[in-house]
Amino acid sequence: MDAKGLAAVVLAAGKGTRMKSALPKVLHELNGQPMVQYPVQQAARLGCQPTVLVVGHGGEEVRKCLADQKVDFAVQEQQLGTGHALLSARPALADFSGSLLLLCGDVPLLRQETLQQLLDYHCSEGAAATVLTATMGDPFGYGRILRDGSEVLGIVEEKDATDEQRTIREINTGIYIFEAPLVFEILSGLGCNNAQGEYYLTDVLARLRADGRKVRALVMDDPAEAMGINSRVQLAEAATLMRQRINERHMLGGVTLVDPAATYIDEQVEVGTDTIIHPGVCLWGATRIGQDCVIEPQVTVENCQVGDQVRLKTGSVLEGSQVGAHSDVGPMAHLRPGTVLAGHNKVGNFVETKKAYIGEGSKASHLTYIGDAELGARVNIGCGTITCNYDGINKHKTIIEDDVFVGSDTQFVAPVRIGRNSLVGAGSTITKDVPADSLALSRSPQKTIEGWVLRKQKKKK
Ligand code: UD1
Ligand code: CA
Repeated sequence: MDAKGLAAVVLAAGKGTRMKSALPKVLHELNGQPMVQYPVQQAARLGCQPTVLVVGHGGEEVRKCLADQKVDFAVQEQQLGTGHALLSARPALADFSGSLLLLCGDVPLLRQETLQQLLDYHCSEGAAATVLTATMGDPFGYGRILRDGSEVLGIVEEKDATDEQRTIREINTGIYIFEAPLVFEILSGLGCNNAQGEYYLTDVLARLRADGRKVRALVMDDPAEAMGINSRVQLAEAATLMRQRINERHMLGGVTLVDPAATYIDEQVEVGTDTIIHPGVCLWGATRIGQDCVIEPQVTVENCQVGDQVRLKTGSVLEGSQVGAHSDVGPMAHLRPGTVLAGHNKVGNFVETKKAYIGEGSKASHLTYIGDAELGARVNIGCGTITCNYDGINKHKTIIEDDVFVGSDTQFVAPVRIGRNSLVGAGSTITKDVPADSLALSRSPQKTIEGWVLRKQKKKK
């Protein structure tokens, strides 16, 4: 096998009419990534080189979405059928000779082991083509496999099948391995004399056999893997299946999911052992959660690194942030992109942070906004503190050094720096830098008029 090359073609030119969407079908998201990413990744994991994506409808959008991937593109201007689609990839594979794995952009659930089995079987049989098949309770709509023992005679489409052929329950998943350039030679000779007037890729198998070549079929264990997505109902079904797989992987890896059916974890997310995840939690994107954490209900974490023994309390939202070990966040806290909690921090209810470095052991327990700020270690931010970072045109920075104590209801009008070990009195509006070890206070003096209310009340009578 190693001596011969392995390439992949992913068919993704179809319109996806049943999605009823302006977005090309293969760009609809499935657990955090467009569905076309799945076959592209499967091909990469199997070492396919190159991978050619056949695009048509919404081709430009698909290209843009995969711009940073190792994928070549081929354009099928008109959707004349699956055979025509593969033939469109011929120029991109002009120099390629070897085995060709054919995948579909809308079949995301295939496991790598299944594809590896297909490849192994194809090679050990020395076949010219091997098709991946499944046994379906209800085979309606699929191409049926015509066999004579292990010999595959051909595939007949539902619309072209006889009543007797329609009773066959072994179906074509649409996944194959061919040999190139042989398959292209055969494809270029295909006609479209069938019920749909299309160039059928499936016709290649009967042709190969007629030429005296070996054609094989491998029946897969779990037909659900071959599920194709044509509608949003199937998109949701596939997402559920994929989530189940992801959640099982985490549970078997030592993570407690209190209610797996209500836990939403994207494919790439990593979670450490003995972490407990409550219902309604969404872990999205490139997120990594440490060990021994507790994630309470309805927490959303997107593209964050969370250290060990962190507690994320109910209703918190974390985006693009780092949370150091032994920190407590929430309930209802909002860490926006660029937040870094160094460790042993407390960020309490209704606290919002953005582009903020918060040093080791520092706390903001209630009702606070910290944006464009740098806090040292052991800083205590009182309730209702606000960094006034925006003057309507530019953003400015607030720097608060180690061991500063900030009284409640303080505003820092940035740019401003508070020196270490200082104390800011409650209710202050700080507009000027404060040197270390100082008390800063800015309040209008209090006026108290004794008996004022009584006199007012008497007047009213
Ligand atoms: C095809 C197979 C059928 C199989 C089924 C499995 C043929 C003739 N039939 O039928 O045996 O059971 O898949 O799902 O191959 N595509 C293009 N360009 C085209 C036509 C299709 O890129 O001109 C792409 C589609 O985007 C899709 C894939 O090819 O990713 C399959 O096309 P689809 O129309 O869904 O094939 P079926 O009619 O379902
Ligand atoms: Ca079709």
